[in-house]
Amino acid sequence: MAVITGGASGIGRACALEMARRGADVVIADLDERRMASVEGEVRAIGRRALGVRCDVSRDADVEALAARALGGMGRVDLLMNNAGVVVGGPLEEIPMSDWEWIVDVNLLGPVRGVRAFLPHMLERGSGYIVNTASFAGLVPHNPRTIPYDTTKHGVVGFSAGLALYLRPRGIGVSVLCPGYVATNLLERARLHGETAAGMPDAVVTPEELAPKVVEAVEAERFLILSQPEHARIWARRAQDVDRHIRRQLEVLAGEGRG
Ligand SMILES: NC(=O)c1ccc[n+]([C@@H]2O[C@H](COP(=O)([O-])OP(=O)(O)OC[C@H]3O[C@@H](n4cnc5c(N)ncnc54)[C@H](O)[C@@H]3O)[C@@H](O)[C@H]2O)c1
Repeated sequence: MAVITGGASGIGRACALEMARRGADVVIADLDERRMASVEGEVRAIGRRALGVRCDVSRDADVEALAARALGGMGRVDLLMNNAGVVVGGPLEEIPMSDWEWIVDVNLLGPVRGVRAFLPHMLERGSGYIVNTASFAGLVPHNPRTIPYDTTKHGVVGFSAGLALYLRPRGIGVSVLCPGYVATNLLERARLHGETAAGMPDAVVTPEELAPKVVEAVEAERFLILSQPEHARIWARRAQDVDRHIRRQLEVLAGEGRG
């Protein structure tokens, strides 16, 4: 059985359906009860069991209750995908502390809560798999208007890397998903300041294209999941000479009038 937070929409929904097609029962945890019910129906139409649980990943009690309901209602948890996420954007000086606290609580502490709630069960069995959804912006920041988002996603990458070292020897796999822009409903809940919304680039990948890559990476126990091959090259270039990379990014941003 797979548990997916943020499973009612976008990447989480596509992964829920892909996993169901490959034989998994799915627990969908989300704030959006209408979309969650619709995904439950889609999973059942594939012929697998589905359980929707209303859950706010920024609340300890909700995530603990999610683990209790998933384990009580569906038995063994084979995979936990900490995927729920939100966006805060805008000029840094216009972003209030309350938005920083919100995005850290959802994007970074959400996965921490998920792992804390489900890990005892996985450790007891000595098996299981954790996928944390970060972003390519968690490896290479490229938009000076999404600093809170990029900060939390760097945190998710670091958390996941540490988890891989801690959990692989205990029989538990870990991957981190770092896609570029994906066509989803992510901006619906976004807290955007200034003219950030107008400055968001178009998505180049659909959730349906991304979901099989996630499942294949889990099957291969591959840590880093990217959406586009060129991202591996960009990341490697940055690691080789980070100052040169930042200078080049500044030139590009200045050319776009966003510097
Ligand atoms: N869309 C992109 O371009 C993109 C790129 C890289 C990474 N991501 C990441 O992918 C993940 C999924 O986002 P998406 O693009 O599919 O967006 P989406 O908005 O379509 O789906 C996210 C889901 O998370 C839910 N959610 C939000 N806050 C929640 C909370 N506190 N508790 C429980 N559920 C909550 C929403 O209701 C929604 O159903 C996020 O972590 C996002 O940061 C998205």
